[in-house]
Amino acid sequence: TKAVTIPSLNAMRAAGNKISMLTCYDASFAALMDRCGVEVLLIGDSLGMVCNGHQSTLPVTLAEVAYHTAAVARGSKSAMIVADMPFGTYATKEAAFDNAVKLIQAGAHMVKIEGGAWLADTVRFLTERAIPVCAHLGLTPQSVHQLGGYKVQGKTIESADQLRSDAVLLAESGAAMLVLEAIPAGLGKDVTDILAIPTIGIGAGPDCSGQVLVMHDLLGVFPGRKARFVKNFMDGQTTIDAAVSAYVNAVKDGSFPAPEHCF
Ligand code: KIV
Ligand code: NA
Repeated sequence: TKAVTIPSLNAMRAAGNKISMLTCYDASFAALMDRCGVEVLLIGDSLGMVCNGHQSTLPVTLAEVAYHTAAVARGSKSAMIVADMPFGTYATKEAAFDNAVKLIQAGAHMVKIEGGAWLADTVRFLTERAIPVCAHLGLTPQSVHQLGGYKVQGKTIESADQLRSDAVLLAESGAAMLVLEAIPAGLGKDVTDILAIPTIGIGAGPDCSGQVLVMHDLLGVFPGRKARFVKNFMDGQTTIDAAVSAYVNAVKDGSFPAPEHCF
């Protein structure tokens, strides 16, 4: 299969072909997801919770994400590999660049950072220096202490307006992709309609350009609380390959997310 690239993801978005993305933390799952046709593999800082048992993503270090990124890169053949920049590693644009270089050198093709307008300069700084950036708006788990918990975002007119304008600014600053987490489905559609870059939703409705799930949620192995947007794709399947393929198919045919997964 052909390598997934920023141009190929843009072409999928333009053609209305849904993009499937999953988190991935090791080489064996990377190979499996790759052969099931998952276009984008995210080394999420969710690894702190699902792999290491932390209560939040805040303890995750750059070295940990780099370690898992290298493993995923060795296992996958054609997927786009996106690595999360951990909490505290992109407070200035210079620090963001130095830290992003380490993730790119570990094998990532793109880095992901959480936040709005304050990151516009950082997105531009990295993009100008040949590091593609995925932005992340809505519920941004690294801000859990400021948000007061893992809550749906963008429910008020003011916060929805803010999110739309943040999205436009980040795209204008060069963001190659945008993850939207836990926002009303209508807002997910709005943002997708306004932008030309792919939007990837997790609890952001069916109208995003693609969808992402944490692999442990897809497989039903995460012992913690299950968010509304989660679906266990092992239900009715007997192999992990079949579950991942069912997820890819459900994203492609628009049957996931269903109304019960949306806000
Ligand atoms: O860390 C993660 O897994 C993520 C996804 C939920 C988008 O950021
Ligand atoms: Na993350």
